[in-house]
Amino acid sequence: RRKIILDCDPGHDDAVALMMAARHPKLELLGVTTVRGNQTLEKTTRNALNLCQYLGVDVPVCEGMGTPLVRPPAVVAGDIHGATGLDGPVFEPLTRSKDSRHAVDFIIETLLAHGDDEITLVPTGPLTNIAMAMRREPRILPKIREIVLMGGAVGLGNITPAAEFNIHCDAEAAYVVFTCGRPVVMIGLDLTHQAQCTPEIIERMARIDNRASRLFCDLMRFFSQTNREQFGLAGGPLHDPNCIAYLIDPGCMELKSMYAEIEIRSESCYGRTSCDFYNRSDRAHNARVGVTLDAARFWDIVEECIRLYG
Ligand code: BDR
Ligand code: CA
Repeated sequence: RRKIILDCDPGHDDAVALMMAARHPKLELLGVTTVRGNQTLEKTTRNALNLCQYLGVDVPVCEGMGTPLVRPPAVVAGDIHGATGLDGPVFEPLTRSKDSRHAVDFIIETLLAHGDDEITLVPTGPLTNIAMAMRREPRILPKIREIVLMGGAVGLGNITPAAEFNIHCDAEAAYVVFTCGRPVVMIGLDLTHQAQCTPEIIERMARIDNRASRLFCDLMRFFSQTNREQFGLAGGPLHDPNCIAYLIDPGCMELKSMYAEIEIRSESCYGRTSCDFYNRSDRAHNARVGVTLDAARFWDIVEECIRLYG
């Protein structure tokens, strides 16, 4: 079983990633850490707790960074994820509480307690917690097997023409992560836009009719609507779950190894992931970047994960 820490900002697609990561027999979820991104830190933490309570996921939920490393906090994504960050489903009163450890401490402690190459980090929000942990305790670096992150784009951005939301929220943090020397899998918009949750997919998952499928459908009805309005897409792209799909079945996508640089100096291109797709520079490759998704296989994996909830 592959040991993972999910570092997230739920977020509708983060929620589905959590649902998938928590039960799959190939994965062992060691903890959930939260970061400001889709909504304020208080809200993303609350959402993570609600999700764990609803799904019966019994792992520590640790709250992390509420501001980016260098810049003032960027705007939250209320237009996509609503005022709560997880509009749509209605949860029962929250009885679960967050772990007393800060996410950065949890990440450091957990990694140090394991051997080299043992833990995979799965960041599906801004990279603030991960970068902070790397800077504060560089001894964690050899412990990291791989960083499988949702963020960036070879092509167009979704928060500015040049940048994807997670990277744009804290590009300095992304810079730290992309230059850390550990293997990075970049699941960017080029890939995730191949996983749009259409009404047909929602119907298909509704037929499973268990706790997880009901949550999935409540989430996706809202998220698909906002994505149609904002981007004219056919449905909400399941960005973050692609990280989990990669971990469960890497063959469901094609990745290309390349040099990827995070732009932190430019004003109009701040947060761009400048991907040397055609290998024009002689810079060492530092990322494997998602290019093509086998969408049919991806939706089968999502269905398989939902079915694990009975
Ligand atoms: C990313 O931004 C967030 O809105 C989503 O949760 C995803 O992680 C997509 O750009
Ligand atoms: Ca996210």
